[in-house]
Amino acid sequence: MKIFLDSADIQEIRELTQTGLIDGVTTNPSLIARSGQDIKKVIAGICDLVPGPVSAEVLAITCEDMLKEGFALSKIAPNVVIKVPLTKEGLKACKSFREQNIGVNVTLCFSPAQALLAAKAGATFVSPFIGRLDDISFDGLLLIEEICQIYQNYPSLTTQVLAASIRHPLHVVQAAKAGVHVVTVPGKVFKQMYAHPLTDKGLEIFLEDTAKTGQKITQIL
Ligand code: E4P
Repeated sequence: MKIFLDSADIQEIRELTQTGLIDGVTTNPSLIARSGQDIKKVIAGICDLVPGPVSAEVLAITCEDMLKEGFALSKIAPNVVIKVPLTKEGLKACKSFREQNIGVNVTLCFSPAQALLAAKAGATFVSPFIGRLDDISFDGLLLIEEICQIYQNYPSLTTQVLAASIRHPLHVVQAAKAGVHVVTVPGKVFKQMYAHPLTDKGLEIFLEDTAKTGQKITQIL
């Protein structure tokens, strides 16, 4: 399973890509706005740091305008993936981009029927939002499971399920169990994934016990 960072914060992306565990980045208009930076500058900066797919979202509503914006975004760097909303116009734009071999992430997916259409339109990724469904008392995980099941029924569908709107590490684990291809996580959730109080405690004990012996591994090198 690939792990993308859901962020437009260059500093955070630089820090976390240094782990070597980040396969790509997703941005959205709200994340870009929060960065306070110019869209082109942010996307170019992220693409410099991350060789994997970097999703940049169109702001247009019509297919024609989405195509114009998408072509402009795709010129920023070769690893830019165009993010379009899961609307009729977005699906049309997706099909057209894919016919020209441009990667597309179809976002704002909230139902299995929508995900089926995204796959039919040839999307590279479809982004079902877990957290935003949970927020309104719908089962976000169930959506992920249904999409994975549908896609598995039709092996000719090549669209990758990209679990989005992840709020905590348990969402990541549940999405992995369902068999998603990718999860996109905020920096905070990525950090929570490796943190464990028993790991910290265990390390503290090992360091204390070693200090009592006065030994150092560097002595044996
Ligand atoms: C996905 O690509 C979106 O950027 C993102 O996951 C939305 O998450 P949110 O619901 O936390 O805003």
